[in-house]
Amino acid sequence: MRRILVAYATMAGSTVEVARAVGEEIAKSGWQVDVLPLSEVRDLEGYDGVVVGGPMIMGWHRAASGFLKKHRKAFQRIPLAVFVTCMSLTKTDETSVDGVPVTLDEKLPKPPRQEGRLSFRERYARLTHYVQPILNATRPARPVSVGVFGGRLDYGRLKWWAMLFVVLIIQAPPGERRNWTAIRSWAAGLPAAFQLEAAEPGLPEHAVLETSSSGATST
Ligand SMILES: Cc1cc2nc3c(=O)[nH]c(=O)nc-3n(C[C@H](O)[C@H](O)[C@H](O)COP(=O)(O)O)c2cc1C
Repeated sequence: MRRILVAYATMAGSTVEVARAVGEEIAKSGWQVDVLPLSEVRDLEGYDGVVVGGPMIMGWHRAASGFLKKHRKAFQRIPLAVFVTCMSLTKTDETSVDGVPVTLDEKLPKPPRQEGRLSFRERYARLTHYVQPILNATRPARPVSVGVFGGRLDYGRLKWWAMLFVVLIIQAPPGERRNWTAIRSWAAGLPAAFQLEAAEPGLPEHAVLETSSSGATST
């Protein structure tokens, strides 16, 4: 049975539930799924695919970026997908960054106030500004897919400096923006994306495709 790791970073806890939902959807394909905080992942041995998720926290969560850099060599043979949770995204017509397909929660992006003249916040919250550093961290490996979804922001949980950043730069109102339909729909497509990637020439250990079988999952 294929084995998939969903590894996540979080600051305030909401990305944990997103990782679990992603794991549940992948498990529906009959694959065994481990959903773990990044800090509990020792190595990637035995996994046929890895999903790494984390929130935007003044850039993508540092632990998540560090994890990608640490394992960038392994990601040349193990297919990788990445998801990002965030509260602010400027609407553009991009569907990929640097050739990597990006799936967006369509309820998240907001059009710029003035077309063609982005404010500082709107420039900061561009898709490429969020995703390109993630792709740089995986190089030369490339994720099969990147998902960008709304998260959850609770002012009551924030320290003063975090509050200041959120109010001044992100300018996002607090609240629940996780769109479970969008998250689950992206995750449901990952088994197929992983198998396609595994069938690419130059990745011999994944060259033999298996048909998914139903079975127990551990999430
Ligand atoms: C200090 C801080 C910085 C943040 N930076 C960004 C950001 O740059 N862009 C954005 O869209 N959201 C940003 N957010 C919102 C978070 O990405 C969002 O609330 C996320 O769902 C938090 O996930 P967590 O609950 O797993 O920590 C920030 C939140 C905090 C507290």
